[in-house]
Amino acid sequence: MTDFKSMDDDEIVSFLAQHIDEFTDEVSPDFPRNIRLGLRSGHLVTRKQEKTFAVVARNCRVSYRPPHAELVFLYTDPTARGHGQASTLLEQIKDDPIIGFPIKLLCCGDQRRHFFEKHGFIKTGDDDEPYEMWYSPVAS
Ligand SMILES: CC(C)(COP(=O)(O)OP(=O)(O)OC[C@H]1O[C@@H](n2cnc3c(N)ncnc32)[C@H](O)[C@@H]1OP(=O)(O)O)[C@@H](O)C(=O)NCCC(=O)NCCS
Repeated sequence: MTDFKSMDDDEIVSFLAQHIDEFTDEVSPDFPRNIRLGLRSGHLVTRKQEKTFAVVARNCRVSYRPPHAELVFLYTDPTARGHGQASTLLEQIKDDPIIGFPIKLLCCGDQRRHFFEKHGFIKTGDDDEPYEMWYSPVAS
């Protein structure tokens, strides 16, 4: 039975390599080496629950302009989908000071876009896929 929490970063990358077709049809030629290297350097971090995990680029460890964090992968085991697992993890990521904000992501498909919109991400730019979406906490 899949338990992402018990997997180390190398095992998460191996899992991603086996399931990459669930995320995209256009796989970067650098994948999965780029993810493995990013995790080893600390530029990327994993956040895991038993049935869901994410790989995220930390704002403070990357030289993106403008500075931002990036949600690179979010995944829930198919047997556990539709029960709020990814939603809970996403809310934790938004509050995680190690990750920081704003958080950018690229996603394809209206189902994914609506899911991230429900969590406060706003699509920027044109309507071409992949959609670029950003989350910034609302100043209170
Ligand atoms: C997208 C994904 C992480 C959602 O995980 P989850 O734990 O089922 O999410 P939640 O239960 O918190 O929320 C379910 C929502 O996800 C939406 N969703 C988005 N993409 C989906 C997909 N590919 N398959 C199923 N549901 C999806 C559902 O429509 C649902 O929305 P609703 O609450 O308005 O009905 C999961 O479907 C998945 O791992 N998909 C494959 C990988 C992927 O596409 N990751 C996202 C891009 S990096």
